[in-house]
Amino acid sequence: MTPNNASIACEKICRLAPIVPVLVLDDAADAIPLAQALVAGGLPALEVTLRTPAALDAIRAMASVPGGVVGAGTLLTPQDVKAAKQAGAKFGVSPGATAQLLAACMEHDLPLLPGAATATEAMRLLEQGYTIQKFFPAEAAGGAAAIKAIGAPIPQVRFCPTGGVTLQNAPAYLALPNTICAGGSWVAPKSLIMAKDWGGITKLAAEASRLA
Ligand code: 3PG
Repeated sequence: MTPNNASIACEKICRLAPIVPVLVLDDAADAIPLAQALVAGGLPALEVTLRTPAALDAIRAMASVPGGVVGAGTLLTPQDVKAAKQAGAKFGVSPGATAQLLAACMEHDLPLLPGAATATEAMRLLEQGYTIQKFFPAEAAGGAAAIKAIGAPIPQVRFCPTGGVTLQNAPAYLALPNTICAGGSWVAPKSLIMAKDWGGITKLAAEASRLA
């Protein structure tokens, strides 16, 4: 898959809803009810971070949930890419971008949302054909003001900001012409997952899905 095609695929996924939940699962048994809760609340695109031993099993389980589109986040190495693809991930997300990681995503046909935080990083990815990029760490790297400023000279790149995005600050990002959606973990807090409060998570998702 070329970078251009990866961005076309990621754009479609990013357009499904304003927010992509960033998920950390400690127990793969929570995967299906969590995905169902988020999809029911109107957030179909789900990013499961490869930060826990349960992550790949969680992706495998979530891949069967109707209406969901499950991707793998925190891709750092070519091995991560291969494992994510084998588990059924439909897209990948990385906090940054390395030559090895980009090559692995192309080789394994995994549409990648690669991370950038500066104009140079965005330009390097654009040179290769990535027009849809993750802006990370969004709040720490300057927030909506930084994305707006980068958009003046580089309007052809559109971003999914992630890292410190909340229900409160998301509207400022989503109002920008070069922001396509945003990622955040607040819609699936650890406390609600541990309590198996799936109704509470659907409520948070519904609130997030109404952000426009
Ligand atoms: C991450 O990589 O953890 C994401 O950027 C999510 O960040 P958040 O927990 O601040 O939403």
